[in-house]
Amino acid sequence: MNTAKSLDELINLRAEARVGGGEAKIAKLHEKGRHTARERIDALLDECSFEEFDMFKVHRCVNFGMENTKFLGDGIVVGSGTINGRLVYVYAQDFTVFGGSLSETMSEKICKVMDMAVKCGAPVIGLNDSGGARIQEGIESLAGYTNILYRNVACSGVIPQLSGIFGPCAGGAVYSPALTDFTVMVRHNSYMFLTGPKVVKSVTHEDVGVEDLGGASVHTTKSGVAHLAADDGAQAISHLREMLSYMPQNNMEKPPILENEDPLDRAEAILDEMIPDNPNQAYDIKDVIREVVDEKHFFELQADYAANIVIGFARFGGQSVGIVANQPNVLAGVLNNDASIKAARFVRFCDCFNIPLVTFVDVPGFMPGTVEEYAGIIRNGAKLLYAYAEATVPKITITTRKSYGGAHCVMSSKQLDGDLNYAWPTAEIAVMGGKGAVEILNARDIKGKSPEEAKAILAEKEKEYTERFANPYVAAGRGYVDDVILPRETRLRVIRGLRMLQDKHRTTHPKKHGNIPL
Ligand code: HXC
Repeated sequence: MNTAKSLDELINLRAEARVGGGEAKIAKLHEKGRHTARERIDALLDECSFEEFDMFKVHRCVNFGMENTKFLGDGIVVGSGTINGRLVYVYAQDFTVFGGSLSETMSEKICKVMDMAVKCGAPVIGLNDSGGARIQEGIESLAGYTNILYRNVACSGVIPQLSGIFGPCAGGAVYSPALTDFTVMVRHNSYMFLTGPKVVKSVTHEDVGVEDLGGASVHTTKSGVAHLAADDGAQAISHLREMLSYMPQNNMEKPPILENEDPLDRAEAILDEMIPDNPNQAYDIKDVIREVVDEKHFFELQADYAANIVIGFARFGGQSVGIVANQPNVLAGVLNNDASIKAARFVRFCDCFNIPLVTFVDVPGFMPGTVEEYAGIIRNGAKLLYAYAEATVPKITITTRKSYGGAHCVMSSKQLDGDLNYAWPTAEIAVMGGKGAVEILNARDIKGKSPEEAKAILAEKEKEYTERFANPYVAAGRGYVDDVILPRETRLRVIRGLRMLQDKHRTTHPKKHGNIPL
């Protein structure tokens, strides 16, 4: 073979690999408002930064005439590149080749890229669009999935792992995203489920379509499987890029500091008016968060799932932080099962990757009643407690209003090794709310009294209890709160706190791993 011919051959093979399953299939995908694997990678990575490997790898299946149908790359594009100049590893499934289904060789390509990512200490991003296990291959694809899942677990807490879902993600395909740190789905064009509508119908006789079974709306409101829903593929890519900007490359590094113009001492007077005079009146904790963080920009996650707790990323003085906040606007900010699990997983993510935690507390307590008890609020509330106690990153807590009972203990309290616990003058830190407390304490005093008399006695006692306990000074007097601060000072105090704690080091007992109440 002469040189010119061999160069041409490579050029032609590359061109062949680049069209995946062919122009007709690409056109079909575009008609549905979807993109190819390569288009997604191009949008995700910095321009011209993609380095591909295994472009010529093909499947080895000889069942059902498959030996005659091979596509270069076998339905997946893998490699590395940069996002905002930082190294990442990426794989993207190509729906134009056998519906992006997972073959043994596809799994080998994904595993190779994951192994490279962890070896080099860089995040890995999976762009999923797949009909599940390649049906023609059988058992090999099961082993292939499991090889990926094993690596997802091995990489967990070592490098950030992100998933984008751009089309189907069914059967065995769902567990890899579930094991990664964050999942972004595209509304109306992506879905995730263990078994599709037909299997559901035959097993449970339930009639359900793909969107209602596993669309983005389901997984960002009901199941909590996904963290963000995007309007289209481009927005999903932009979410993935921004999310990464808050994270370090791996667990041995700190997140990057991104300087900005927002003054460190910006004091917003509006914060002093934020808490309503009536303690039962709601307000939006996100208004508080936005006033204090850099450039008033809060990158919220799981906004529509367990909305009684708010989680997300922001920056203070350029320092990336994880924010956890009770939301008085939804169920009065109470802690229930879903909220506890949502916050616990986020706290653990931040702790894995050296991202300090800033917690805003306004919580009336844990949700009482059979619904929550039967669903395991004891076990699930303990998850959040465990996560905060275990976290060794800097922990700064601001109590804006209520902090009652067990929920007080759980929400990054001093005794869970909260580093800096601040309270606004409007804070109420006590064992329980005044109404409930006086009913228990004065049950004997009102026995035999008329309803009017009982009501008057209880109102008087409640006033007395509230005056005595519904303030931050009892806790501050014990040192459980480090300082009572003006709301407008919050931004500066958090920034100073983060600087004070930047070299924090807490040693823990040697152990294999703890036993979080899963
Ligand atoms: C091989 C597949 C495939 C698969 C799709 N294709 N899924 N080939 N294995 N799993 C092929 C189709 O034959 C078709 O090929 C092309 O991909 C596009 O598929 P369409 O059906 O035309 O596309 P669409 O109408 O958009 O429907 C997409 C779909 C559907 C909903 C994903 O294809 C589907 O239901 N696929 C099967 C899903 C499934 O049951 N997977 C196995 C799960 S079991 P042509 O040549 O016609 O273009 C599993 C267990 C693993 O994953 C557990 C491990 C732990």
